[in-house]
Amino acid sequence: MAEVILEDLSAPAIYVAYSGVLALFAVGRVSGLALDVGHGVTSAVAVYEGYALPHATQRQNLAGEAVSDFLKKSMLDRGHIFATMSERLTVQKMKEQSCYVSQDYEAECKGYKNVTEFQLPDGTVIPISQPRIRCPQLLFDPSIYQPLDEYKSLHSIIHTCVQCCDLDLHRALLNNVVAVGGTSSFVNFRQVLQNKLKSIVPLRAQVHITTPEDPVLCGWQGGSILTELSTFNTQWVTKDNYDEHGPSVVHKNCHTSTCAPNA
Ligand SMILES: Nc1ncnc2c1ncn2[C@@H]1O[C@H](COP(=O)(O)OP(=O)(O)OP(=O)(O)O)[C@@H](O)[C@H]1O
Ligand SMILES: [Mg+2]
Repeated sequence: MAEVILEDLSAPAIYVAYSGVLALFAVGRVSGLALDVGHGVTSAVAVYEGYALPHATQRQNLAGEAVSDFLKKSMLDRGHIFATMSERLTVQKMKEQSCYVSQDYEAECKGYKNVTEFQLPDGTVIPISQPRIRCPQLLFDPSIYQPLDEYKSLHSIIHTCVQCCDLDLHRALLNNVVAVGGTSSFVNFRQVLQNKLKSIVPLRAQVHITTPEDPVLCGWQGGSILTELSTFNTQWVTKDNYDEHGPSVVHKNCHTSTCAPNA
């Protein structure tokens, strides 16, 4: 990556930061836990005083793409076929516009009434009923999508990440969870995740989850905050640095240093 950016794209300098660290910077924190639920990947990164704690990082390939895939299968059961690439993009749009996280999944499932309609590109209007809540529910109960226990729920991922960290940090991490990535945009996502996390951590633990205004662009915002810091100027890997020391200078400069705002 450094080679492409510095040589092919002629950038004057580069810095590589953990996206979880940048997400926290974007919401004004230097310590906390960043949960990124994107398209293909979900990750949980614990951050302390601007440092990511890599040994605690959790990651799995279950995120928005799986929700879209589940919706596609649910629509197939109802006789609607979405096979081509552009049809899959239609399902993704249907998911983004129609699905939401249910605040009480079991109860709402019984006699589901909140049916909505979605207009396909050819003008056909199709109804969407229970899949509206069933598909995003896989993020909190992956067994409804993949029964082999291969994946963990989002709240378990956060819990495992916290448990991999020193006991002294648990409070700060659980109190400062930042949920980012496009898939965290579902209606009720934050509240349900917070309730489910509360239900699996010790009774007295305080759990607080925030979502930035823009859950997709917050990495860029955190990056711009970091690079604006006067103390950051010495951290860049410049083209000259790179030419003189080779790729190892990227690991040296970017992973052993911190430049947290207000740290
Ligand atoms: N309003 C929305 N409601 C639900 N899901 C959404 C919404 N907007 C975007 N998404 C989903 O978010 C995902 C894209 O998020 P993001 O841009 O964070 O992923 P990515 O960074 O490209 O993927 P990854 O991090 O897995 O490599 C897609 O699955 C998209 O359908
Ligand atoms: Mg991403």
